[in-house]
Amino acid sequence: MASTAAILALTILLLSPITLAGDLHGFRATLTPIHQLSPGKHSAAVRRDSHRHAFLSYAATAVGKATTNSSVSVQAQLENGAGAYNMNLSVGTPPLSFPLIVDTGSDLIWTQCAPCTNCFPEPSPAPVLQPASSSTFSKLPCNSAFCQSLPTSARACNATGCVYDYRYGLGYTAGYLATETLTVGDDTFSKVAFGCSTENGVDNSSGIVGLGRGPLSLVSQLGVGRFSYCLRSSMAAGASPILFGSMAKLTDAEVQSTPLLKNPSLRRSSHYYVNLTGITVGSTDLPVTSSTFAFTRTGIGGGTIVDSGTTLTYLIKEGYAMVKRAFLSQMANLTRVNGARFDLDLCFRTSGGEVPAVPRLVLRFAGGAEYAVPRESYFGAVAVDSRGRVAVECLLVLPASEDLSISIIGNMMQMDMHVLYDLDGEMFSFAPADCTKV
Ligand SMILES: *[C@@H]1O[C@H](CO)[C@@H](O)[C@H](O)[C@H]1NC(C)=O
Ligand SMILES: *[C@@H]1O[C@H](CO)[C@@H](O)[C@H](O)[C@H]1NC(C)=O
Ligand SMILES: *[C@@H]1O[C@H](CO)[C@@H](O)[C@H](O)[C@H]1NC(C)=O
Ligand SMILES: *[C@@H]1O[C@H](CO)[C@@H](O)[C@H](O)[C@H]1NC(C)=O
Ligand SMILES: *[C@@H]1O[C@H](CO)[C@@H](O)[C@H](O)[C@H]1NC(C)=O
Ligand SMILES: *[C@@H]1O[C@H](CO)[C@@H](O)[C@H](O)[C@H]1NC(C)=O
Repeated sequence: MASTAAILALTILLLSPITLAGDLHGFRATLTPIHQLSPGKHSAAVRRDSHRHAFLSYAATAVGKATTNSSVSVQAQLENGAGAYNMNLSVGTPPLSFPLIVDTGSDLIWTQCAPCTNCFPEPSPAPVLQPASSSTFSKLPCNSAFCQSLPTSARACNATGCVYDYRYGLGYTAGYLATETLTVGDDTFSKVAFGCSTENGVDNSSGIVGLGRGPLSLVSQLGVGRFSYCLRSSMAAGASPILFGSMAKLTDAEVQSTPLLKNPSLRRSSHYYVNLTGITVGSTDLPVTSSTFAFTRTGIGGGTIVDSGTTLTYLIKEGYAMVKRAFLSQMANLTRVNGARFDLDLCFRTSGGEVPAVPRLVLRFAGGAEYAVPRESYFGAVAVDSRGRVAVECLLVLPASEDLSISIIGNMMQMDMHVLYDLDGEMFSFAPADCTKV
């Protein structure tokens, strides 16, 4: 009996989260945009997005599935901060504060560690963790569950410990897994697994905080159950709040909710999938069917994700074509201009700085959630005339590229909204909000 009880106790111990959350009442931090999106800056944002997408789509396809069982590697495409937001995270004892990119599309938390080659030097003093100077630093062995949850293609074991090495299109990050004490906002958590990166080929970034659905992400490790953020529109100065645990809640009467989905073809995915079931442009309900944005039968892509690190919104070709047709027919009285030079597609000339009326855009999700997208979240000024008046406005939605078979709701379309990822309840909720009051 005693031994059965001991085995049971051991089993419970092994099954419980490896890292125990320090304080489950909830905590908050702030996000700051890395890039400001203003007229003329959209091209750069679209180019950053395109690099991100190459990787998002790779990780969401069967090709990605064949080589990894995890989409930790997805974060590698964040090669220059994309259209992303930074969050301050303090690591070690005594704590050292790092601005890290917040990424709902990946899991691993990583930061630069000494001795570091090719590391991003700014802001100074260079935020490089000195393992030898932290009393709470500890390497993770290869047989740890966290090490085993790294994609096998990116993982190796040697005398250094659990070594990872992510190579991708234009960048890489390499190092080893360790545990440390992390401080987020006012709360401190011990023994959180993270990547101690001794090589950083990710431009303009000193690391990433993965908030995805896999075991290595911050939200999984801290067992917070839910998190939310409110991104202030890019023109507004100031920080945006991010809330974890019980502090993450929407109390507004206008809250809309839709279930979070899992791609049935992927054993494991970091992504937050939602079920986009309808789109209205002006007064026209587009002919979206349950298959338009569905997961593909072969398991190669499909589906729609909400992503904090992509700037614009991307729809699979068929869905985008419907949206474009509807805007074109309802804005026929405006002069169209070629969007290619802005790296966008559907653009119109505006006269005398007049801001044209545009048809409303409403996205519908399974469960009846409706999102009436604010105008500035889907139409934007991309060029101004010599007197600084708006000269060209474009639709901030693009078709997904050939290879990209997933649709992505980017962070512009999440602005001035309080969005909640309820992991325990498997729901995604949102409500219009004044982010300064969240
Ligand atoms: C992050 O930390 C740096 C350095 O301590 C500080 O200057 C900055 O204001 C912080 N940012 C946020 C969003 O808290
Ligand atoms: C991925 O998971 C499947 C099913 O659990 C397993 O058969 C396969 O070996 C794993 N592949 C890798 C690369 O780990
Ligand atoms: C990195 O940041 C610097 C300064 O903000 C900028 O000039 C440079 O273009 C950025 N690099 C990339 C690849 O975004
Ligand atoms: C372990 O492998 C990594 C990556 O290949 C390498 O940089 C490191 O030097 C190795 N460590 C030892 C002790 O061999
Ligand atoms: C174009 O037509 C739309 C609806 O048909 C109308 O709301 C808008 O004011 C018109 N714009 C111009 C510049 O005439
Ligand atoms: C998405 O919602 C539609 C309409 O309610 C439903 O037919 C479809 O099965 C849902 N897809 C998934 C993957 O749950």
